[in-house]
Amino acid sequence: MASKFFSTAPRAVQTRLCRTPNSVSIASRLPQRRYISAYGYEQAKALTFSEYGEPPSVLSLHSHSISPPHSNFMTLRFLASPINPADINQIQGVYPSKPTFTTNLGTANPIAVAGNEGVAEIIALGEGVKKEGFKKGDWVFMKGPGFGTWRTHASATTDDVVKLDDQMREGISAIQAGTVSINPCTAYRMLRDFTTLQEGEWFIQNGANSGVGRAAIQLGKKWGYKSINVIRSRDDKVKEEAMKKELKELGADVVITDAELQSQGIKDMAKEWTNGGRAPIRLALNCVNGKAATAMAKLLSSSSHFVTYGAMSKQPLTIPASMFIFKDIHFHGFWVSRWAEKHPGEKQMTVADVLDMTRKGEFRDMPVDEIRWEWESKGDELIAKVKDTLEGYREGKGVFVFGKT
Ligand SMILES: NC(=O)c1ccc[n+]([C@@H]2O[C@H](COP(=O)([O-])OP(=O)(O)OC[C@H]3O[C@@H](n4cnc5c(N)ncnc54)[C@H](OP(=O)(O)O)[C@@H]3O)[C@@H](O)[C@H]2O)c1
Repeated sequence: MASKFFSTAPRAVQTRLCRTPNSVSIASRLPQRRYISAYGYEQAKALTFSEYGEPPSVLSLHSHSISPPHSNFMTLRFLASPINPADINQIQGVYPSKPTFTTNLGTANPIAVAGNEGVAEIIALGEGVKKEGFKKGDWVFMKGPGFGTWRTHASATTDDVVKLDDQMREGISAIQAGTVSINPCTAYRMLRDFTTLQEGEWFIQNGANSGVGRAAIQLGKKWGYKSINVIRSRDDKVKEEAMKKELKELGADVVITDAELQSQGIKDMAKEWTNGGRAPIRLALNCVNGKAATAMAKLLSSSSHFVTYGAMSKQPLTIPASMFIFKDIHFHGFWVSRWAEKHPGEKQMTVADVLDMTRKGEFRDMPVDEIRWEWESKGDELIAKVKDTLEGYREGKGVFVFGKT
């Protein structure tokens, strides 16, 4: 298939750390143009894998073309797609939601497109899609995991996507829209759905500097809850203090390290923070596990709730029997994908609420490491950026921001 790509000079993958809360990032303000191939076929590139394994070993950049959409099909052009821990786990084959392996992208053997979250614009659509109220230029995000979002373009049906209506999209950048559907929703639901915290009551969480953690801090603050936030210790104490300060500026009441949490005297400190223990700590959010998670559970008041939603340390969660028997702590798990499947309407309301807060300046973006994906971007450079996210102690979440694709 002959195609016309009027590209600028090849550009290497560029990344820049974006710490401009609530401002539309520079990359997402750049003119977004696309190059249509002859006969309406769209040329596309995707980071794909044909077998499970470590991302640098199994990912490759695959080129293919997408035929013009008809009936209930639409062609999407991606604008921003984050690299979340679950995406890595999915490539490794250890995530419960499996991607679709297919030969539809023109390969002899089935391949899957990596990535689960992102925002895309509709650039072409069939009559059936128009009848369902979609139009060219609409922004959509994925209804559930497994669609594959680390790609320049995709063919989709209305069953695959949720539209961000024009009102919801107003004043929202592509990065904000592309990162709203998983982390902020997870924090929102965990704070609301396991217990009814009263204003002035406390919750405690680990992984407090993660996307979910930062969202929980801000939502908690807005709803009048107080928070104890646990981060991992840094060798560089200046950086550790800077992280504590940053989270306090977001609305955290207390920020401590995992070492401080496990030190002697933590119970007395917690009493001091909570008015001599009179203001209960009624909810814990855990994405780390291991000893630091057990220490967190020990600070909870009787009959509180402990919600596990991640496994960053890869350590088991060990709970003394006394917490079940005498303290009556309720242990739960939460997976936003399962929740969203059961509650699609509530999911949209949650997203709308977070975007509304974002628009009003009440909800700040997490720090982002923008990874520019141009048409000329090389596969090994994009894959190297995915590999970087496997390391901890990062300053921002990696997000593919698509340029002239
Ligand atoms: N269940 C659900 O529905 C759901 C939804 C969204 C996210 N999650 C989970 O929530 C967690 C956070 O996701 P995210 O996207 O918000 O993360 P993120 O923004 O990418 O941040 C990663 C977080 O993990 C910490 N971390 C990295 N390696 C670690 C290790 N070996 N031990 C302990 N902590 C480590 C990081 O701390 P440092 O800065 O110290 O490295 C950072 O706080 C992940 O486990 C993810 O799978 C679950």
